[in-house]
Amino acid sequence: MQYDDADICQRDPLIERVLIGSDEIQRRVQQLGTEISRDYAGSTPVLVNILKGAFVFLADLTRGMSAPHEIDFMAISSYHGGTQSTGVVKIEKDLKTDITGRDVIIVEDIVDTGLTLSHLLDLLQTRGPRSLRVCTLLDKSSRRQKEVPIHYRGFEIPDEFVIGYGLDYDEKYRNLPFIGVLKP
Ligand code: IMP
Repeated sequence: MQYDDADICQRDPLIERVLIGSDEIQRRVQQLGTEISRDYAGSTPVLVNILKGAFVFLADLTRGMSAPHEIDFMAISSYHGGTQSTGVVKIEKDLKTDITGRDVIIVEDIVDTGLTLSHLLDLLQTRGPRSLRVCTLLDKSSRRQKEVPIHYRGFEIPDEFVIGYGLDYDEKYRNLPFIGVLKP
């Protein structure tokens, strides 16, 4: 699908600029799909999608993968509106799949402080997966408070609050086809 990022941007006065364009995202997500398919040839990994922010990423990633795989969803909250982390991490929805002995890939929208992911990795590890890796679309590594292993990374981004391609500000902007920055 082709999008006119500049036009969408112009029509919303609260969006400051496009940080990563829709074409660039599509290309990179396809590359990640190819890479993961190659790495997991002969296995059927479970892609664990973290709602809600990573749902758009998963939708493109899964279609970019040639290797067989399953998907499941988990919802964890660490942000409750606004742009600041509350430090509270809560499981809102758990997996249906038994991941014991399975190859698991966590599909995240963004790793910021790393607190959410670190909590999630500890939790999933207790269920005895055969392997556990992380695939994130965005990495804001300059904000890291907790070191977390990232195996697949779409883009490294600066310390700015971003929206679009699944990421929200107060539940809005998830539908943007690009990653953008809001006006201060
Ligand atoms: P962390 O625990 O600080 O790594 O935060 C992870 C979660 O915070 C992500 O899954 C997002 O839901 C949210 N988040 C962090 N940075 C941003 C941002 O720039 N825009 C939108 N959501 C963000």
